[in-house]
Parts: sequence; structure tokens; C-alpha cells
Amino acid sequence: MKPSLDVLILAAGRGTRMNSELPKVLHLLQGVALIQYVIESVLELGVNRIVIVVGYGESEVRKALSKYGDRIEFVRQEKQLGTGHAVNSAAKVFKEKFGDVLILAGDAPFLGKKILSELILQHRKSGSQASILSARVVEPKGYGRIVRNLKDGVLAIREELDASSDERGISEINSGAYVFNKSHLFRVLGKIKATNKKGEYYLTDTIEFLIREGAVVSAFCLVGEEEVMGINSRKDLVKANLALYQKKAVELLESGVTVMSPENTFIASDVTVGQDSIIYPFTYIERNVKIGKGCRIGPFTHIREGSHIEDKAQIGSFVEVVRSRVGKGTNIKHLSYVGDARVGAKANLGAGTITANYDGSKKHKTIIGDGAFIGSNTVLIAPVKVGKNAKTGAGSVILADNNIPNGQVFAGVPAKKIGNRK
Ligand code: UD1
Ligand code: CA
Repeated sequence: MKPSLDVLILAAGRGTRMNSELPKVLHLLQGVALIQYVIESVLELGVNRIVIVVGYGESEVRKALSKYGDRIEFVRQEKQLGTGHAVNSAAKVFKEKFGDVLILAGDAPFLGKKILSELILQHRKSGSQASILSARVVEPKGYGRIVRNLKDGVLAIREELDASSDERGISEINSGAYVFNKSHLFRVLGKIKATNKKGEYYLTDTIEFLIREGAVVSAFCLVGEEEVMGINSRKDLVKANLALYQKKAVELLESGVTVMSPENTFIASDVTVGQDSIIYPFTYIERNVKIGKGCRIGPFTHIREGSHIEDKAQIGSFVEVVRSRVGKGTNIKHLSYVGDARVGAKANLGAGTITANYDGSKKHKTIIGDGAFIGSNTVLIAPVKVGKNAKTGAGSVILADNNIPNGQVFAGVPAKKIGNRK
């Protein structure tokens, strides 16, 4: 049987450096709250309990995470007096003080399952009472430094503000992820003092106390600059976002998709794009989108969540697609809005085609059949159905429920039948 592991995620801080009313951990990275990345990584680990320390904006944080139901628990840190204080405020929920606890910061989204499993493994293999996940970075500024002795043993974690100039030169930093033996941790937490520059109770100060007590403390350098990143400011957030987009562009290039200008293309990490598709610059593709093979997307295209663009379709300039399916070989090449629609194969949506999907309170669906030809500037007021091979004249307004049967041609405002398509 695997020894039980509890997880504690620190998310009570306001995030002063964000300069925001929104709690820091709820700031979005590619549309997903920072803390959700942390929770998702941990859920994959399959642990015993996941406890989140909340404080600033508690109700907002709880609400944002309500979808996790009873898979997570919350504990309140009344005043945000530092990371050590935050952990100590969870002491009451860990009544059984045997076993280990994995402690994570809610603002470090890139420490994935693989890294965390490796940290846990190393912790157990080494027989340590405390294990720190560390990283060697070119730019250590802002992070706690791992101070080691001549034999490479860990001595302390020194926060930037309290570090000597020599210590600031250390390139090994604290990721903010640790595995602690609970009984050791909670014993020394009572001893730390807030006698540092920030006047906070630092979790990092427990390390020196543990070492003084003769505990085995290790730091495992298992991550790189990108994965270790803690998001403290909006600059950090933007940097992380851009790093994800760059990574995605490279991944697509390697998988057989031409991304014409990676620096100017913004594709969310989970998007799939088929081989030989070409993505032109200034394309913005949100999460939960699927694009087939041989498509041409962009320039200046916005594809939003829940869209599926099938093989060989073309979505061109100033087109927005959301929650829609666009069939094989269909063209929507200019200035269109396609929302909540199902467009068949080999259809053509002329410049300026608009699905008016929202009536002010509800969204409605538009269905466009295979081979349909939608004339320029047609407005389709949903719910509405355009039959297979049907056609609309330029400037038509198709009223709601005024469905166009297969092969018929409608035109005018409001549109009426004017003939059959050859
Ligand atoms: C912390 C570490 C630093 C490490 C860095 C990694 C300390 C003292 N420093 O610094 O060594 O290199 O993370 O990213 O731990 N929080 C609370 N309650 C509080 C204070 C903070 O829950 O009273 C939460 C925050 O919401 C945040 C996490 O703890 O999610 C980390 O706090 P933050 O202020 O971001 O710490 P750093 O200065 O980044
Ligand atoms: Ca941080």
C-alpha cells in the first residue's frame, strides 16, 4: 500500500503585486484560473485529501472552484500573515499528524503531475523529513534562494529581501512546492518568527529549524525556469501566457501545421490542429477547439471555445466562430460571425454573414446545410435552418423559424422565396 499523502494549496493571499481586486489565484491564464492548473495537476496524482487555504476573496475562490465539489476542502486563514502562518492555519484539519503533506502555491501553474510525482518519489527514496522542489534559473530575482553548505547539504531558504548580496547570487531557487513529514512540520511551525523584512511568518523558515533539530532536509532540482514560474504580477501573467502560446506554436510546427508567424499567433494549449493546416498571423484560438487537416485559418481570425472546424475548411479575415461546427471544405472567408451554428460541408458563407444567435436573453441555433450558398451580408436570425444547397441573396434577412427548404433561393428583407437553385 502506498503511504497516504495529503495536499495543501496556499491561496489566501491577495496578490498585492497584481494590483487587483480579484484574488491572485483567480487571474486567468488562457481562460483558466491559476489555481485550477494546480488543482488539476494534483487530481491526477491521486492523493488522499486536497485542502486549500483561502482568505482574501474567500467566497469568490470557493465559488470559482465549486465544480470540484467534495474533491477539495477549504480552510480559512483569517489574516494573511505569511506562508508559514497559512500552513499553520491548516493544522486543525490535519488531526492525524503522521504521513506526508505536499504543499503547493496556488500561483505556480506549471508544476505538472510528472514533476510532482518525481518530487514525492525522491522525498520517499531519500528518507527526508522535508523535501524542497528547487530549480536552477538564470533570473532568480524574486524567489527564495536555496543556501547549501560546502557538502551540498541544504542549510536554509533565504528570501530575496533578507538575502545577503552573496546569497542573492545563488541561482538555485525555491519553487514553493515541498513535501513535509507532517509531525515535523507542525512542530516547528510554532517556532518561526516574523522577524524578517516583510514581517511575515515564512514557511521557508521552517527549513532551518528542521535542520537544527537534526531532521533530513533535501532540495531536489527537478525543474527548469519555465515550469517553476510563480505568477505574482500582471507582467508575470503575460509572460506565462506568451510562453504557452510560443510552446503551442512550436508544437504545431513540429506536428505538421504551418504557423506562419508564431510570435503573432495565439493558440490555447489544448487546441488540436490537423496536418497541413496553415495558420496565418493574428489568429486567436481559444481552448476547447478542434481544427481538422488542410484548413486555412486567418489572418485576423477569432475561433472561440466549443468550435470544431472540419478538414479543408477555410476561415478567413475578421471572422469570429464560437460554439459552432463548420463542415468539411466549407469557406467562411471574410467578416462574419458564426455562433451556435452547425454548418454543413462545402458550404460558402459570403462576406458579412451574421448568425444573430442572441435574442437578448437566450442563445439560439442556426443550421446551414451542405453546399448552401449564403449571399454577402445575410443575417440569419436564429433559430433558423437553411437547407442543403439552398441560397440567400445578398443583404437578405432570414427571420427566425423562417426555414429555407433544400435547394430554394430566398432573398430580401425579410427574405422570401424567389426561386429554386439550379
Ligand atoms: C514564495 C516563497 C519563495 C519561493 C516562491 C516560489 C515564502 C516565504 N516564499 O514567495 O521562497 O521562491 O514562493 O514561487 O514562502 N499565501 C497565503 N497566505 C499568506 C501569504 C501567502 O495563502 O499569508 C499564498 C499566496 O496566495 C500564494 C502562495 O501562498 O498562492 C505564495 O505566496 P507569495 O506571496 O506569492 O510568495 P512569494 O513571494 O512568491
Ligand atoms: Ca508567488
